[in-house]
Amino acid sequence: MRVAALVLAAGRGERMGAAGPKALVSIAGHPLAVHAIEALAACDAIHLVVPVLPAASLDAPTTWALSARARAKLAPSVAGGAERQDSMQAGLAALPADVGLVAVHDAARVLVQPGDVARVIAAAARSGAALLAAPVRDTLKRVREGRVVATEPRESLWAAQTPQVFRVALLREALEKARAAGFQATDDAQLVERLGAPVEIVEGDPGNVKITWPADLAFAAATLREREEAS
Ligand code: CTP
Ligand code: MG
Repeated sequence: MRVAALVLAAGRGERMGAAGPKALVSIAGHPLAVHAIEALAACDAIHLVVPVLPAASLDAPTTWALSARARAKLAPSVAGGAERQDSMQAGLAALPADVGLVAVHDAARVLVQPGDVARVIAAAARSGAALLAAPVRDTLKRVREGRVVATEPRESLWAAQTPQVFRVALLREALEKARAAGFQATDDAQLVERLGAPVEIVEGDPGNVKITWPADLAFAAATLREREEAS
């Protein structure tokens, strides 16, 4: 079964506050989207990587210094939409017919490890849907008007990451039903959960963070450089 990855890179990056889209901000010598694409392309289970980019930046890949392996797996870019779910839909619509499994990934998660990508793909190949997640580490407080009203038990709470991997037909059905109901999810798995279909959790690395704020860039750049030196 052929496996494709969608690299969602079409957001504006408002919290980052850079001059251009966040996914095209460079750290450790390459744009965030390139680090994410390299991490996915390094996973042997992935055959095809589809960048979903802002419409004004569709030709950005011509300027990227990609490894030969990533270049060989790179598919034509797709223009994203107003919300993340719209960008995911645009990527999904562009997949070749022979792709059976799709890994949806945030370009902003540049630190994802190829081994974790392989494990979540293997889980979804068995069960139909799986995501990387990390157990919540902090104690969680429910707050109203600046005051704690409850301490939530955290034993069963996990923080969702990406990649989230699905059988293509299942994600298509989930997306169609969500659209018909006017439902916008904050991650892709939620669309499949709505169908009542099982979604498997694969414990990932808590370091697979989503670069969100300017301060996240220095941490990610240092980690990428460390890995480069160690390899
Ligand atoms: N994304 C996308 N299309 C959108 C919105 C988001 O492809 N319309 C992508 C982003 O590029 C990012 C990922 O989804 O890689 C996760 O979104 P987020 O971290 O929220 O990025 P932005 O939406 O770009 O940032 P912000 O919310 O601060 O504007
Ligand atoms: Mg956003």
